[in-house]
Amino acid sequence: MSFSIPRGGVLGLVGESGSGKSVTSLAIMRLLPPGATVDGDIRFEVNGKATDLAALNTEQMRALRGSRISMIFQEPMTALNPVMRVGDQIAEAVRAHNDVSKKEARNRAVEALTEVAINDPAQRALDYPHQLSGGMRQRVMIAMAIVNRPELLIADEPTTALDVTVQQQILDLLTQLRKKFGLAMLFISHDLAVVSHVADQVGVMYAGTLVELGSREEIFHAPAHPYTRGLLEAVPTLKSDRAQRLRTIDGSVPPLTALPPGCPFDPRCNLRVETCSRDLPPLERVGPSHWARCPVVNNGGRV
Ligand SMILES: Nc1ncnc2c1ncn2[C@@H]1O[C@H](COP(=O)(O)OP(=O)(O)OP(=O)(O)O)[C@@H](O)[C@H]1O
Ligand code: SF4
Ligand SMILES: [Mg+2]
Repeated sequence: MSFSIPRGGVLGLVGESGSGKSVTSLAIMRLLPPGATVDGDIRFEVNGKATDLAALNTEQMRALRGSRISMIFQEPMTALNPVMRVGDQIAEAVRAHNDVSKKEARNRAVEALTEVAINDPAQRALDYPHQLSGGMRQRVMIAMAIVNRPELLIADEPTTALDVTVQQQILDLLTQLRKKFGLAMLFISHDLAVVSHVADQVGVMYAGTLVELGSREEIFHAPAHPYTRGLLEAVPTLKSDRAQRLRTIDGSVPPLTALPPGCPFDPRCNLRVETCSRDLPPLERVGPSHWARCPVVNNGGRV
């Protein structure tokens, strides 16, 4: 994996279930289980200085988590405490990182609920999670994530559990907050349409690796990697011929415990050549901000 997200920028990470999207975000947050090993470095600007998150101790990381970097998940019901009023939960997040009175923390919680466009925020702050709709709960999660003014927000499938109209409202809200606070966002989704709306850079994951990275235009209008092309061809559009079966990518993702030695897409790729099964191809530049992990495509079919 190698990518960067500028202040105010949104990187959309797409890929099939099990491709490693959540593992990537949990690695950044240092929330992987103790048995996991993380190699390389994760640079985050703290007080104007690039700091390697992977090298911070537990206390230093805890200070950043929930304040400078925060995360929202697909299903807010599992992330919210069911027996605590939502306003108190947000206030607790404030007090975990700021030396303020309970009253001040509660005021900030109500302010955050206002920022995520919840009507009658002072009243809603007194509700328990089960009293709110799915869309409202997701707004509460977002309020909790932004209350300490983070610089990076990691959103892991934030709209997957919502119906399409509420999904659109949440996407609009995230876009507004990004503009208002200059938030950088890592936006994870398996839904290409959603990513094409919010992201300005897109990374495509396959079997635990990044196979393509580029601007939204490059990925959606000039995809390079055969897997990305296959994914885009599998998306139905209004122009799709209803008499034709939808295109799919034959085969399935290899288990991460039994990856082929070379290109992980090799067993399913219709452009494969003999050398594809030898080594994992490097991520190579194919355009100004565009990278792909396929020497066959990168060299115009010559390897
Ligand atoms: N880099 C990695 N090293 C080791 N194991 C990995 C790695 N990436 C993913 N895995 C394994 O694959 C499993 C699925 O990965 P992950 O949960 O990140 O997928 P996902 O892309 O978020 O899928 P979904 O769309 O279903 O949420 C992980 O629980 C882990 O066991
Ligand atoms: S390296 Fe070979 S197998 Fe992998 S995507 Fe490219 S052509 Fe297909
Ligand atoms: Mg996931």
